[in-house]
Amino acid sequence: MKIVMIGSGYVGLVTGACFSEFGFDVTCVDIDTKKIENLNKGIIPIYEPGLDALVHKGIQTQKLAFTTQLKDVIHDADIVMIAVGTPTNESDGQADLGYVFKAIADITPHMDDYTVIVTKSTVPVGTGKKIVELIHNLRPEYREGVDFDVVSNPEFLREGSAIEDFMKPDRVVVGTSSPLAKKMMQKLYHPLHLMETPILITDRNTSELIKYAANGFLALKIAFINEMADLCEIVNGEVNDLAKGIGLDNRIGQKFLNAGPGFGGSCFPKDTRALASTAHSLNKPSLLIDSVIQSNESRKDSLIERVQSEIQIKKEILNRKINVSILGITFKANTDDIREAISLKMIPALLKNDVSVKIYDPMYYKNSDRLQHLKDYANDWVDQVDFANSVNNAFENADIVVFLTEWNEFRGLNLKKLYKTMAISNLSPGVLIDYRNLFDKEDARDFRFVTIGRKT
Ligand SMILES: NC(=O)c1ccc[n+]([C@@H]2O[C@H](COP(=O)([O-])OP(=O)(O)OC[C@H]3O[C@@H](n4cnc5c(N)ncnc54)[C@H](O)[C@@H]3O)[C@@H](O)[C@H]2O)c1
Repeated sequence: MKIVMIGSGYVGLVTGACFSEFGFDVTCVDIDTKKIENLNKGIIPIYEPGLDALVHKGIQTQKLAFTTQLKDVIHDADIVMIAVGTPTNESDGQADLGYVFKAIADITPHMDDYTVIVTKSTVPVGTGKKIVELIHNLRPEYREGVDFDVVSNPEFLREGSAIEDFMKPDRVVVGTSSPLAKKMMQKLYHPLHLMETPILITDRNTSELIKYAANGFLALKIAFINEMADLCEIVNGEVNDLAKGIGLDNRIGQKFLNAGPGFGGSCFPKDTRALASTAHSLNKPSLLIDSVIQSNESRKDSLIERVQSEIQIKKEILNRKINVSILGITFKANTDDIREAISLKMIPALLKNDVSVKIYDPMYYKNSDRLQHLKDYANDWVDQVDFANSVNNAFENADIVVFLTEWNEFRGLNLKKLYKTMAISNLSPGVLIDYRNLFDKEDARDFRFVTIGRKT
């Protein structure tokens, strides 16, 4: 079976590589010429554990290819997967379907024989129907159910563990009412079916909505535990114990109950906004999702405010520019993705307060090639900050260190040793702000320790 993946980003590249590992012939297409040139040389544009090996193997076995020339590969494709971005449309919060419709317009003239078009991109309910209408407009002779079908097949992988998530998913969701498309999708997911992965086949609208409902619910869990962390602080409680205390109830479950700096990344923020927008446009606003969005934004603001007040205290004592080091700028560990990370909001806010900012992140250290990529998101401030090439270097002469990402390499730090390298005095101890609850209070006893949802 021949698969063409339109879009070779986090989702397209990972799923394309994984399908090639299952033995299908996969061609990944992208409009980004540089990305495709690099992929053809075996250079992987993103950091995702295990992806290099999978891509290199696919290229070597000739099961995986990369091209910008969509028209050369569509005509004999059995399945065309759409994995392009669906960013927030700033005007109404809904997902911007411009890339999706452009991709459909690009492929439609080249389709030959029966083709299944699969939306892997996260798209609002009703998008599949709009795609069918677009294809009808472009090629009126092409019949749905005979010449083509449009199937929803949302992707649930998580960056940082994307390959494992793809290879061992909790479930696969397929949205189609076409018997022909259903047969093709069953063939596609046969390798996972053999491993007893539940494959849920439903109608297209329900499938489209499932993706948003799943992300909305997970975002709600995060917002909830963060609000509980705030209450724990007031009553001198322990949010980790609280999370265990509720999570051991099977109806609640222990996952996604880590208090932190609010959700970021390329999915939860935009998907909750899109879900809220869908609900509003259907005249059934989701009070819950509206609140989750609001709670998450105010979480980020209040944690930035806490850093600012530590800076203010230092300023009053030291009467000089304060040095703040930020450890971890990606939205979570094990990814280089910084989209909607709290760092992108916090760093410019600190710079506005005339603070000297140094950053250390294992993906964005001094002289790393990825620093160029950071400019796409932080062009207005990236030249105003310093980059450290190690954790040690980040602590040196810092007045305040702020941990924003839970990278494994942060967990075993010798805080006692690092403390001595900071700009400290009797009047002004070094401040450690731990927004991921990485450190024991005992290990951080030298510092003024700011943590979340715990007694200090
Ligand atoms: N990143 C995740 O963890 C994740 C997880 C599940 C679902 N999703 C969804 O998957 C979709 C893709 O997300 P992503 O993070 O992979 O995006 P991305 O921005 O990393 O990649 C999108 C790619 O599509 C390419 N592209 C755009 N228009 C194109 C066209 N007409 N033809 C060919 N290529 C084109 C871009 O150049 C880019 O390389 C989104 O809808 C997202 O919500 C993402």
